[in-house]
Amino acid sequence: MARVNVFDTTLRDGEQSPGVNLNQLEKLEIAKQLERFGVDVMEAGFPASSQGDFEGVREIARKVRGVSVTGLARAKKSDIDVAWEALKEGADPRLHIFLATSPIHMTYKLKKTPEEVIQTAVEMVRYAREKFPKVEWSAEDASRSDPDFLVKIIEKVIDAGATVINLPDTVGYTTPAEYGQLFKYISENVSNIDKAILSAHCHDDLGMAVANSIAAIENGATQIEGTINGIGERAGNAALEELAVALNIRKDFYPYETNLVLKEIKRTSDLVSNLTGMAVPRNKAVVGQNAFAHESGIHQDGVLKNASTYEIITPELVGVQSNSLVMGKHSGKHAFKDKVKQLGYELSEEKLLEAFTAFKQLTDRKKEVTDEDLFTILMEIQTDS
Ligand code: KIV
Ligand code: ZN
Repeated sequence: MARVNVFDTTLRDGEQSPGVNLNQLEKLEIAKQLERFGVDVMEAGFPASSQGDFEGVREIARKVRGVSVTGLARAKKSDIDVAWEALKEGADPRLHIFLATSPIHMTYKLKKTPEEVIQTAVEMVRYAREKFPKVEWSAEDASRSDPDFLVKIIEKVIDAGATVINLPDTVGYTTPAEYGQLFKYISENVSNIDKAILSAHCHDDLGMAVANSIAAIENGATQIEGTINGIGERAGNAALEELAVALNIRKDFYPYETNLVLKEIKRTSDLVSNLTGMAVPRNKAVVGQNAFAHESGIHQDGVLKNASTYEIITPELVGVQSNSLVMGKHSGKHAFKDKVKQLGYELSEEKLLEAFTAFKQLTDRKKEVTDEDLFTILMEIQTDS
């Protein structure tokens, strides 16, 4: 199985989610959990963006020794110098420099010609390599860049010392087929690509970040970037827990392995959600509250007979204790009987039917019937006799 490196950017791109602001202690707590989760690279922040971020990155580089810690820098000497100060005590420091390569960004944002962009990228990568043993260079907005321009600039930045080439889908615009083709094209046409690792970095504006990342892996990427719970700018980044589980559950299709410890998923997701204040949607894949909950009678009946009827992921795989059968208006008699037993009641067939009828009446008024509601029904049924 081919090994894929996981680059986590929860503490940088994830923290760029509007409304999120982590303090140093919170960042360190998340960083330690990311280490337990088994990420290979952790982007701890953007040191030149603020004094707080600088200190946060430095603290993580000092204390998290089992993971390569990186920080973001614009293609500017001053950013690179600040990042080095923050990262130099790390066990395996690396720098992440970005510069936009799409016509839209070069014209309107950078106001530079393509030749000037090449020159800046090369100079800054060379400068960064004077300090950092590893340098990742990102072609910002790569998915809207001219592939032949990418070939040209990538060859030059690899010659200048870049060890990782990242092709971000910065605005979440690409599709799996198109992004896969880009990675294939770069793998086949960049003459010195064997000297660097190709990385995918996807945003979720069209809801395709995870699918796009997988398409990149199938076409030459050996590093994927993402965040926990998919938090990040606008619609967020590729959700690492979804990527990890998709690769695991569909190994038959995807012969790739990561170092991620899947049973740490729930704990990591809960921690990130609590500290960032970004709630996980109930129906979110893998970590949402409903991911292992079943409401309809048909599904509950199937799950009680054999969980694999309606569960493709076992809750234990991702560190969730068990699935749950939610008692609501679609629940059937089989699940109801099971629930009554779980609550410690043994009812005759006649009493069970009576309780089930009362329960069904309640579901017309209440979306979810709690254990307390059921206790009330069961007590009433018993005192009736
Ligand atoms: O999405 C993006 O382009 C980024 C870069 C800074 C790598 O996050
Ligand atoms: Zn990004």
